Amino acid sequence: MTSADNARVPRHIAIVMDGNGRWAKLRHRPRTFGHNAGRKAVRNVVEACLRQGVKVLTLFAFSSENWQRPQEEVGALMELFVRALDKEVDELHGNGVRLRFVGDLASFEPGLRQRMLAAMARTAGNDALHLNVAVSYGGRWDIVQAARKAAESVARGELRADEIDENLLGHFMCLADLPPLDLFIRTGGECRVSNFLLWQLAYAELHFTDTLWPDFDEACLKSAIEDYARRERRFGKTGEQVATKA
Ligand code: IPE
Ligand code: IPE
Ligand code: MG
Repeated sequence: MTSADNARVPRHIAIVMDGNGRWAKLRHRPRTFGHNAGRKAVRNVVEACLRQGVKVLTLFAFSSENWQRPQEEVGALMELFVRALDKEVDELHGNGVRLRFVGDLASFEPGLRQRMLAAMARTAGNDALHLNVAVSYGGRWDIVQAARKAAESVARGELRADEIDENLLGHFMCLADLPPLDLFIRTGGECRVSNFLLWQLAYAELHFTDTLWPDFDEACLKSAIEDYARRERRFGKTGEQVATKA
């Protein structure tokens, strides 16, 4: 039995939800139509993770770089976040989902930020699924905020600079308290990371699909999990070592 057999279902999945704009374009509709359609896919994939026994789901909803999009699209996305927060939190809470927003929350206007904080506080005691939504998030931002926290500890005299190693810096990164990332999925056909979880991706398995995000459903998730289950994760060791758990 290989380690892949022991761990067929990834504990932690992260998804770059890409392709909303192209999905809308194919239908001759504005890009925001695609973003709205993407909301149903989020609901489907959350429910599928609950059914499949995935413990942590991290979704890339808005990157540090997405602020550069046309003001109209950014505004529509912010409105969509507010609507989704007002409508979905009850059900998520009822399903035992713990909701967490990761990213530079200070960059959002106060009303939206308050809604995010309230949803996090309300669901903080839940454990069926940890749902992390990355907003105004960038992998480089994450590394910088971790480095800044470590530097502040040094300045306060709580830490020596030579005590900073991978393990310690890793503790300051977003999601450090959760199981490590097992499977990274990107929809929409692009084979790139686009500044998502740079640090956390070190040994994740990567799965790219042409399916546009609004079309992503439980069958797509299952097929990504099956792909993952076929991989042999070696973490730098040899295949023989992994087979014998040396
Ligand atoms: C992803 O879909 C959603 C966000 C980045 C907010 P896109 O809006 O990037 O859709 P495409 O890639 O243009 O099709
Ligand atoms: C990545 O998609 C960000 C999110 C899905 C939130 P983008 O559409 O912004 O990525 P690029 O620009 O194609 O690299
Ligand atoms: Mg895109």
